Amino acid sequence: MTFFDLLWDGKGMTYDHSFAMEIAKVVVLFSLGIFVVNVILSVIVHFLLKPKKEKEVGQINITDSFFDVKKQQKPISAIIVESINIVLFWFIIVPLAMALVAYSVFNLIHSWLCGFLIFLLGMFGIFIQTWRTSQFWKNKQFKKRFRNAALYFKYVLAFELITVLFFSIFLPLAFQKGCLCVYNKAYGIETLLDLQFSTEWTRSNWLPDQVCPKGILCHIYATLSEDTSKEVFINVHAGSDIKELNAEVKFKDDKINQKCDKIPFPSSIEDRGQRNVFTCFLTGLKSYTLYEIDLISQDKVLNSTKYRTIAEQYSDDDLVILFGGDWGYQTNGLKIVEQISKVNPDAILIGGDIAYDNGNIHCYYSFDLLLTAFESQYQHVSRLIPFIFSVGNHDVGFNDYAKYNITVSDEMGPLYFTYFPQRKSINNTILPIKHRVTYNIQKMQNILLFGLDSGYLYPHNETQLEWMLSILDDQSYSTLSKFAHYHVPIYPTCYQNNSFMNSWNNLLQARNYWVPLFDKYEFVGAFENHVHQYKRTYPLKNNSKSEKGTVYFGDGSMGIRSVNCIDEAKTYLPGKPFENIFETVITNNSDHFWVLRSFGKNNTIEFNAFQPDYTFIQNSTYVVNKKEKRYKLDL
Ligand SMILES: [Fe+2]
Repeated sequence: MTFFDLLWDGKGMTYDHSFAMEIAKVVVLFSLGIFVVNVILSVIVHFLLKPKKEKEVGQINITDSFFDVKKQQKPISAIIVESINIVLFWFIIVPLAMALVAYSVFNLIHSWLCGFLIFLLGMFGIFIQTWRTSQFWKNKQFKKRFRNAALYFKYVLAFELITVLFFSIFLPLAFQKGCLCVYNKAYGIETLLDLQFSTEWTRSNWLPDQVCPKGILCHIYATLSEDTSKEVFINVHAGSDIKELNAEVKFKDDKINQKCDKIPFPSSIEDRGQRNVFTCFLTGLKSYTLYEIDLISQDKVLNSTKYRTIAEQYSDDDLVILFGGDWGYQTNGLKIVEQISKVNPDAILIGGDIAYDNGNIHCYYSFDLLLTAFESQYQHVSRLIPFIFSVGNHDVGFNDYAKYNITVSDEMGPLYFTYFPQRKSINNTILPIKHRVTYNIQKMQNILLFGLDSGYLYPHNETQLEWMLSILDDQSYSTLSKFAHYHVPIYPTCYQNNSFMNSWNNLLQARNYWVPLFDKYEFVGAFENHVHQYKRTYPLKNNSKSEKGTVYFGDGSMGIRSVNCIDEAKTYLPGKPFENIFETVITNNSDHFWVLRSFGKNNTIEFNAFQPDYTFIQNSTYVVNKKEKRYKLDL
């Protein structure tokens, strides 16, 4: 990778870096434009408004400051040149300094290097300014030019020098470890479009000294690997003094002791956010069984919790999944969380845009807000409710800049990978962060869930498609009812093709590569998100109604600000009417969540949608009867 690649093309960068680059590119182009204008204006002034010789030096006493010189003593051309130089100095230097700050805010360069570069840039600007201004008096001697300019501009230069020094020191301090997240109104300075901005400095006023205090376990939550009736990941955030952790898992007389893996946590996160993250991978469990789990460090039980495994295939036990997407720490998001204990699901599925941290490790607190909110519900049902996630545009970066590569690493996260393992290794161990991927399956009772990546880390085809085909062609999965969840809808309720926020190429790719598989393998449903509205389609096959088709549920409005759709955009493809595709749609104020209930005894799957206060949404119900019930061979 060349330096140019790094600063301009962003190859090999994470999404938050690429966003900084988008800002920096605009700013650099703006500065270059100003520079060109400056040169053109200077040339025009030099040739067209060239002062007469006798009015140049003779009438201005160079020991007078810029402010002392009486207007009538200065030729008009001198005033124009001086004004252009002073104003354009700031119009060039300030945007370039802002570009550097953008790099610093998104942690592409160290903030102190940013300060040093701003200092150099400012000094260079002052140097050029004095040189060009003094040139006006046509002094041939280099020294004399600067002496004259320094005397003449002494107050202006002193002001500029102080400003440059101030920004070189203030900006690195103020913008260190910047976080730009969305829909996290608890902390951060509110900016446009529900974006909140914070830095290490501002967070020191809001967050406690230790977000995860020493000596305690501050978060305990579960995530699922493939075989959900036998396995689970119990994830724990502990104070930084807790160096090792064990899980003792008990059911009646059965007892399993499992050492938990310490997961690398980014060291560049500020001290108040530091913690030790552990994942305990529990295997060999019995299906639909409530286990007691003691979390032990140095022979001391630090916390006790419970977890119930998921029902296995062909059992009579039911399965309940609460699902939606685009959850935010906002009034309606928190209202939906309050309904979790009433629904009492076996799992919570969020199809992307989970905490809106934008893949920036310094927005770590948005995950603390998410986990704290959901953990409050675990207390009401006296057990952990596992998460299932698919990846959204705000989980690995600021937006779907799919042209950038994303590097997943121990140090840079994104924390989506650090915190939420969803797949084990082929050796039955926890996968290292850099090997974690964004497409996974979970077998749950009679259901097979495909969590897919809408083109953020992996394109829709290639590796991801090969992996899908390998699962779909595997006979051991053939009798399961298939579902997919992913972020960008294939049938969106609002088609805003040129929107800044959306790259609808993702949609077309999914329609091209995934829909033929959904059709061929008769997927029962697909859970779509990202558009922040509500919909349920008819069963669809080959883009039209079909009895054995796939129903698309969506569109990700789990409590964040619902986006109202303008009339022209109410189409799933330009010119295509709603009626043929959607059975029920709400395009305004559409906050909701879905509940899937799969009844083990009669092999029926039922879907219902609810508003944040748990009011049933009319016409949302959809029921599927899987007639070919099969029985376990060992029964
Ligand atoms: Fe999204």
